[in-house]
Amino acid sequence: MANQMRSLLSSCLLLATVSIVLVHIPARVHSITLKSDIEVLQALKQAIDPVSIVRSSYLHSWDFAFDPCEAARVFQGILCTFPTDKSANRIMAIDLDPAGYDGFLTPSIGNLTELTSLSISKNNFRGPIPETIANLQRLTRLSLPQNLFTGRIPQGIINLKHLEILDLSQNHLSSRIPAAITTLRSLVQLSLSNNALSGQNSRPLRIVAAEHIGS
Ligand SMILES: *[C@@H]1O[C@H](CO)[C@@H](O)[C@H](O)[C@H]1NC(C)=O
Repeated sequence: MANQMRSLLSSCLLLATVSIVLVHIPARVHSITLKSDIEVLQALKQAIDPVSIVRSSYLHSWDFAFDPCEAARVFQGILCTFPTDKSANRIMAIDLDPAGYDGFLTPSIGNLTELTSLSISKNNFRGPIPETIANLQRLTRLSLPQNLFTGRIPQGIINLKHLEILDLSQNHLSSRIPAAITTLRSLVQLSLSNNALSGQNSRPLRIVAAEHIGS
């Protein structure tokens, strides 16, 4: 009887200890990256055929059990901002490897408002370049060459004032090049070659390479 009492007592004690420890563990599993930025990375990966995400590729390393910015080595091909104040980390660059990713570029990419560089060259991205790209006001580099993008160049691109490198070459883009593209003051490299684009006077135009325009 005494033994039973003692074991009951120790069970209670153990339970109490466990509860105290649980209560006092700080919320360690918090995200340091802005939640909506994480959701965009998830959407980006989900828009790609899993079969084309091979084992050694950057996207294969994206494991959402981890926080993207905290586990920078887990998430290959991204860079984060690390604000000195308490504000959340943001995704500032996406630079994917040419692993043959087959899929769409999610329109929610436009939510990554701190993005300065988006580079996904030499893959099989198809469909339109999302118009939401125009929301990425900090973008200095937009590099999408050697993919299968179709449709038009998003008109909003002409509002990306900090754009220095715009490479959309070797896709299947059609329609007209926005004339106002020449008003992009920061542009140092513009590559639109090997598409089915036409210029201002609607003549079919193959721009071979128009580098170092602008500044
Ligand atoms: C992107 O932003 C829009 C508008 O705020 C929202 O409806 C959408 O869910 C966001 N997408 C992601 C993946 O965060």
